[in-house]
Amino acid sequence: MPPTTGTLDALLVEQRVFRPAPATVIEANIKPHDLAEAYALAGADHLAFWEKAALELEWRRKWDAVLDASNPPLYRWFPGAQGNIAHNALDRHVHAWTKNKLALIWEGEAGDCRKFTYFELYREVNRLAGALRGLGVGRGDRVCLYMPPIPETVVAMLAAAKIGAPHVFVFAGYSAKALRERVNDSRAKVVITADGFYRGGRMIDLKAVVDEALPGVRPEAAESVVVVRRTGHDIDMQEPRDLYYHDLLRQESPEAPTEVMEADEPLFWLHTSGSTGKPKAVVHGHAGYMVGAHHTFRTVFDVKPTDIHFCTADPGWITGHTYGVYGPLLTGATVILYEGHPLYPQADRLPSIIERYGATIFYATPTLIRMLMRYGPQYPKKRDLSTLRLLGSVGEPLGPEAWMWLYKHFGGSKCPLLDTWWQTETGMAMIAPMPISVLKPGSVGKALPGIEAEVVDQAGAPVEPGQGGYLVIKKPWPAMCLGLEGDPAGYRAAYWERIPGMYFAGDVARRDEDGYFWIQGRADEVLNIAGHRVGTAEVEAALTAHRFVAEAAVIGLPDKIKGEVAKAFVVPDPGWIAAFPDADAFDAELRAHVRRELGPIVVMRSVELRDTLPKTTSGKILRRQLRKEELGEVG
Ligand code: WTA
Repeated sequence: MPPTTGTLDALLVEQRVFRPAPATVIEANIKPHDLAEAYALAGADHLAFWEKAALELEWRRKWDAVLDASNPPLYRWFPGAQGNIAHNALDRHVHAWTKNKLALIWEGEAGDCRKFTYFELYREVNRLAGALRGLGVGRGDRVCLYMPPIPETVVAMLAAAKIGAPHVFVFAGYSAKALRERVNDSRAKVVITADGFYRGGRMIDLKAVVDEALPGVRPEAAESVVVVRRTGHDIDMQEPRDLYYHDLLRQESPEAPTEVMEADEPLFWLHTSGSTGKPKAVVHGHAGYMVGAHHTFRTVFDVKPTDIHFCTADPGWITGHTYGVYGPLLTGATVILYEGHPLYPQADRLPSIIERYGATIFYATPTLIRMLMRYGPQYPKKRDLSTLRLLGSVGEPLGPEAWMWLYKHFGGSKCPLLDTWWQTETGMAMIAPMPISVLKPGSVGKALPGIEAEVVDQAGAPVEPGQGGYLVIKKPWPAMCLGLEGDPAGYRAAYWERIPGMYFAGDVARRDEDGYFWIQGRADEVLNIAGHRVGTAEVEAALTAHRFVAEAAVIGLPDKIKGEVAKAFVVPDPGWIAAFPDADAFDAELRAHVRRELGPIVVMRSVELRDTLPKTTSGKILRRQLRKEELGEVG
C-alpha cells in the first residue's frame, strides 16, 4: 500500500455535492450534451477527439498523422505539422477583432499599472524578437529567463517562442546556484532578467543574484545579459555582457518574422524535482503543448471574450506558463499579472485586484487560499467580488475546508470552484471539473475527455473504488512533455517503467464510485511545499555539501498553511562543536545554508542532530522509519 496522508480521513467522510446553477449551465461553452458527446468521441476515437481540438488553431502546415506512437514513451503529436505557438497566441490576434483588446493587465506591488492590448504586446514582442536575433540567438538556441512577474516576462516568453528559441525559466526566488546550474545545463546564450522587483514591501535585487551566478559558467553560455529596468536602482552593468532591455529595443522594428517550427521542436524547458538527484528539465514542444493549453483553457475555464483571468501563479512555474500566459493568449483572453506579495500591504490585496479590474476568473493555489483563510473573511468581504464567475485551484490537495472557504467567501456560493490536477510534465490540466460539473469539495473531479486516468496497484491493476493507489494515465495526451532533456532513459524509468505501459504520475489518489478523483499527495520522495516540488534528495545534497554535515535525511511534515514543510535529520561532523556556540546557532546556520543553496522555497521546520541515521543493510537511508518515528505513521 502506498503511504497515506492525514487528510485521508477528512476526504473519506466528505459527502457534500454542489450542482451548477441553471445560469451557469446556460452560459457555459461546454453544455452537458457537449460534454457527453466529447466523452463519447474520445472513447470511440481518441485521436479524432484531439485532432478536432487541433483544428481550432492555425497551422502553417497540417499534420501527416495525429500521433506517432512508434517509439513509446517518446510519443510525438501531430508529426509533420508546422507552426508556432506565438502565431496563435499573438500574431493572429493582430488580424482579428481581438487586435485592440487588452491582452495583459499588470499591477506592480506599489500599485502602478501597465496595460497592453494584443497589438501593443505584438509590437513589443517583435522588437525583442529582433533584438534577440541581433544578439545571435537563433532557432534551437536557449534563452534563460530569470524574471519577476512583470510585463516584459510575458514579452520575453513570446519573443523566444517567436524566434524558435526555447525559453528556460528560472523562478526569481531560486538561488544563484540554481540559476548557474540551469544556465550551464541549457547553455543559454542569453539571460534575460530585471534589475530588481518589489515583494512584501522590499526591493529584491535580482541583478545581484545574476552577478553572483554567472561567473564560472561555461564560456559559451550567458554571452549576453539583457536587463529590464524595473526598479531603477543602481546595479553593476558589466560591459560588454550586460545590456539594458530598453536600449536594445529602441532601434528594433515592431515587425519580426515568426519562425515556422516543426511540431516537436522544443518551446520551453522547465526544471522540476523528481525522486532522485538534481531537478531535471522537462521539455515541451510547440504543437502538442499548444493544442493542450488552448483546448483545456477554452473548455475547463470556459473562457469567453469578456473574461478577465487572474492567475496568481508566477509565470516561472508551469501554471504560469500554461494558464497565466499561453492558454489565455491562445484563446484571446485578458490576463492579470501581479508583481508582489499576495498579502501586501494587507490581506485584501487580491480581492482588491479582482474588484478594481473586474476579474471574472480567479485561479489560485491551496497555500494561498489557506493563508487568506487565516486572515479571515472580512478581507474579501470588504471588496466587491461580484464580477467573479469561476474559481480554480491547483498545485496541492485543497481539502474540503479550504474549498468551502474559497467557494463561500470569494465565490459568494455561486461560482463553480474547479480544482484542477496536473503537473509540469503533463503540460495541461488532466483531471478537473468543468463549470457544468457537479462539484465535491476536496475532489479534483473526473478525468477530462481525451484523458484516461486510473488508480492502480503496484502491478497496474485498477483498485476498487474508494481504495488508495497510484495515479496513472493510460493513453498519451497532446501536451505531454517530449521528455527530460538529455535523459531519455531517466524519463522512461521515472514515468513509464514503474508500471509498464502507463504514465506514472507519482501521486497517491483514490477514485470514488462516481469516478471522482481525490488526490492524497506524492507517492515518491518529493515534497510539495506550498505547491513547489522539492526532492528530498536535493535538500539532502544541499545539507551534505556543508562542511559540518556528515549525513542528512529529509522528510516532509504536514503544515497547516503550506501543506508540507521539510524536516532534516543530520549527523554532524564533530568539528561543529568548536565552530558554533550552541546547537541553535548551528541549526540557524544549516537553514541559512539550505536557503543559500536552493532558495527560499524550501521551508525547513527544524533540523535534528543525530548520532546515526536508520539504514537498510545496503546502506540506503530509511526515511520511512524517520517519518514513522516523527508522525507515528504505520507501514
Ligand atoms: C500536485 C503543478 C492535489 C501533485 C501544476 C502533482 C495537486 C504535483 C493538484 C505537480 C491538485 C497538482 N490537487 N495535488 N489539484 N495539482 N498537484 O509539476 O502532487 O508543480 O504531482 O505542477 O502537484 O506539481 P507541478
